[in-house]
Amino acid sequence: MHKGFILWFTGLSGAGKSTISERLLAEFRSRGYKTELLDGDVVRTHLSKGLGFSKEDRDTNIRRIGFVADLLARNGVIAITAAISPYREIRDEIRRQTDEFVEVYCECPIEVLAERDVKGLYKKALAGEIQNFTGISDPYEPPENPEVVVRTDRETVEESTQKILEYLASRGLIDGRQPA
Ligand code: ADX
Repeated sequence: MHKGFILWFTGLSGAGKSTISERLLAEFRSRGYKTELLDGDVVRTHLSKGLGFSKEDRDTNIRRIGFVADLLARNGVIAITAAISPYREIRDEIRRQTDEFVEVYCECPIEVLAERDVKGLYKKALAGEIQNFTGISDPYEPPENPEVVVRTDRETVEESTQKILEYLASRGLIDGRQPA
């Protein structure tokens, strides 16, 4: 019914990585697929507990997520990851280490994210109350050749989800039937 692969979300905080990945997780589970979600915010409460937001700590966090995702994927699981993963080099390192890697770029202009500011973090970062905040005072390197780009300021969650499902079906990674 499906292959094992890594579905790697990348994008700024608030761009929709968690929302879309949770929607896909539910969709895959409803189809009876084997799947797990490694969300940056959640991973940082256990597997990466104690890590901060320096480049070194982010790289460690992302390598841990990549390591676990690869273990899952090679056992036939759809491993979804949703972390900012700001550095291209580390994302590409994980891509090279794994058989099937699908990168989804959640693209949204930073002005829109700062305006929306769901967690109130952009306001704090702009006021200098949070250091090294991605996109404000810390780098974000967008992917050069992502398999899928979702423009979350222009697409609904449903539209982005369908776009990803269609791509995965076209690659033969999941079957092509329409979701319920
Ligand atoms: S990553 O850079 O290592 O991939 P990750 O996705 O795990 O980051 O965590 C990002 C989340 O941590 C953000 O969504 C936000 O809630 C929180 N956060 C706290 N401080 C920062 C910061 N300085 N930069 C980015 N996100 C931060």
